[in-house]
Amino acid sequence: MKKPKIIITIDGYASTGKSTQAKNIAKKLDYTYIDSGAMYRAVTLYAIRKNILNESRINTLINSLVDINIEFKKNKNVQKIYLNGEQVENEIRMSIVNSNVSKLSTIPEVRNFLLTKQRDYGKNKGLVMDGRDIGTVVFPNAECKFFFNAKQEVRAKRRHLEQRRKGNLETYHKVFENIIERDRIDTNRPFNPLKKSPDAIEIDVSDLTENEVFNKLWGHITKKIN
Ligand code: DC
Repeated sequence: MKKPKIIITIDGYASTGKSTQAKNIAKKLDYTYIDSGAMYRAVTLYAIRKNILNESRINTLINSLVDINIEFKKNKNVQKIYLNGEQVENEIRMSIVNSNVSKLSTIPEVRNFLLTKQRDYGKNKGLVMDGRDIGTVVFPNAECKFFFNAKQEVRAKRRHLEQRRKGNLETYHKVFENIIERDRIDTNRPFNPLKKSPDAIEIDVSDLTENEVFNKLWGHITKKIN
């Protein structure tokens, strides 16, 4: 008998490895994977390019949302994000985007704009989506929800290493500061803040390897799909 498809959400703090795990789970289940953070990053990149990111141009930004087209497409089996037809996977990870994305994500109109798109991906189930409010707001009825946490130092080290590998020479201190600032904004925004859904399984990944985290997730997921 064919197994029923479900929606799996992974929320949590920045640099806890949500995307890596979500991608691996989606691959194993042959599900769609959506990185909702990449969508906020793409809107931030658009706003930076149009120079409409500052407070005084917020209405222009809101009115421009209709001109933003975000898509995910697979290139040689690797999923990339496209902003108005341009592949922007590297641009959305730049430090100028890191420093501005949390602030932009506090704007309710931006959140509602992306919410509709995010829900569309779940219409046929068979979806793994990671972010900050996926289990609480985007898919409150998802069958399987996770919430990742880890010590700030562990997350900063992880992000710093990742940035170095990409040739970005930001200091550890700057990366650490950015993570603390993003946590502060993400958890304190009035509209759909980062928080654990009461029915989400919380995992502290500080002392776990990638495989250990995967095995934990897989243990819970198989209970839901079998
Ligand atoms: O997952 P990430 O670090 O790429 O996300 C970038 C930012 O996007 C994050 O600091 C807050 C915002 N975000 C959000 O507000 N809601 C989501 N569901 C996903 C990301």
